Amino acid sequence: MVATGRLVMLALLSTPIVGHALQVRSHDPAWLAPVSAASKRNPLADRADARPGGGRLFRDRCSTCHGDDGRGTAKAPDLTLPLVQSQSDGALFWKISGGNAYAGMPTFSFLPEPQRWQLVLHLRELSLK
Ligand code: HEC
Repeated sequence: MVATGRLVMLALLSTPIVGHALQVRSHDPAWLAPVSAASKRNPLADRADARPGGGRLFRDRCSTCHGDDGRGTAKAPDLTLPLVQSQSDGALFWKISGGNAYAGMPTFSFLPEPQRWQLVLHLRELSLK
């Protein structure tokens, strides 16, 4: 009993210290796009010329939270993870558009639609680096 108590104490004491510097915010598996949105195709999918613009938008609008490389910070999750990359272009577009205000992901519906699709192109590129 006493030994178990000590172990629990140790775990409680060490977690915040170890976790602090390395912590990247976790992904919310319950946040799912509706099928109608997820089945939308990226109209810019074949437009290689649209990719650099997506990178610029990402640096301006997203990297403060998700990091320049998209691998996440304490404020926002890693967007290169399979959990994210396995979602369709339409699902990512839907998440970028509507955000999840409750969880701290802003809405970007004020950006023109082509810019939001450019951001999706950039998310795909991040996962290749
Ligand atoms: C103010 C901080 C912040 C900014 C700026 C931000 N995000 Fe997020 N983002 C978050 C948080 C927090 C989550 C996690 C929300 C959740 O899990 O419910 C998130 C989640 C996401 C997801 C969903 C990942 C998943 O788990 O399915 C995508 C995609 C995304 N962000 C893309 C972007 C893009 C693209 C931009 C820039 C246009 C951006 N974010 C800007 C905080 C931010």
